[in-house]
Amino acid sequence: MTATIIDGRAVSETMRTKMRSRVESLGLRGVRPGLAVILVGEDAASQVYVRNKAKACGDVGMHSEVFRYDQSTAEALVLAKIAELNNDPRIHGILVQLPLPAHIDNKKVLEAISPDKDVDGFHVHNVGSLVTGESDFPPCTPHGVMALLDHYGIPIEGCNAVVIGRSNIVGKPMALMLLARSATVTICTSKTRDLSLFTKTADIVVAAVGKPGLVTADMIKEGAAVIDVGMNRLPSGKLAGDVDFENVREKAGYITPVPGGVGPMTITMLLANTLKAAELAAEAALQERASA
Ligand code: GUN
Repeated sequence: MTATIIDGRAVSETMRTKMRSRVESLGLRGVRPGLAVILVGEDAASQVYVRNKAKACGDVGMHSEVFRYDQSTAEALVLAKIAELNNDPRIHGILVQLPLPAHIDNKKVLEAISPDKDVDGFHVHNVGSLVTGESDFPPCTPHGVMALLDHYGIPIEGCNAVVIGRSNIVGKPMALMLLARSATVTICTSKTRDLSLFTKTADIVVAAVGKPGLVTADMIKEGAAVIDVGMNRLPSGKLAGDVDFENVREKAGYITPVPGGVGPMTITMLLANTLKAAELAAEAALQERASA
């Protein structure tokens, strides 16, 4: 079997086209969705991600503002900016790019963001909502994976799904989202003793560890959907995922390439969450006026 290549760029573009008309509808009501991005430090990858996020906002007609701080910036300054943005009616989504410098407390910063502007879905309020299955803002990367599975009509209910990776950004929320759709979910980690014991019977494998070549063809069931969230820079400068793409594609039913698979979806889901935050805010303002 040769796998269908899941085209994240094409699915992203289809979703963005739909979003543009929702942005226009909001515009008719005098609302322009706005995203604020906070970047602390000079991490090269983060600089690229933040630039791409701001560009994507413009691409669908949304407003964006980027606030850049030096590596040595005091935590209090970042917290003060978040407080200001929480009260800014032009801003519907706030994102603090991770990783933060070591002297800044991640948890304190993420929890300073108002949960109704937490478009990354990292605030404990939204993490809790994800556990109970009713989150407004699912974290962008696993949200994007779910959108890809649905776009290609890959069945989730009742399937065996293996998530490799247990991060707060991808692995854990990914497992919860698959579970919410009644998959039988196994979470493996980079320390799992015999990964193939679990992956061999999986209908869906999501690899999110950051180890190039971790998932090989012998570990995959014929016809499985293999989703690669890995983003590794090889010594050659080439970008590679966690999956041995060339060999796994000969056995899988569906596979995501790196780049061009999950990557483009992450930003698109950030736009989707920001748009949703703006729509919810507009709705709340309407209700408030009606009851005044
Ligand atoms: N760093 C790597 N991925 C992410 C993400 O999804 N959101 C934020 N804020 N930072 C990240």
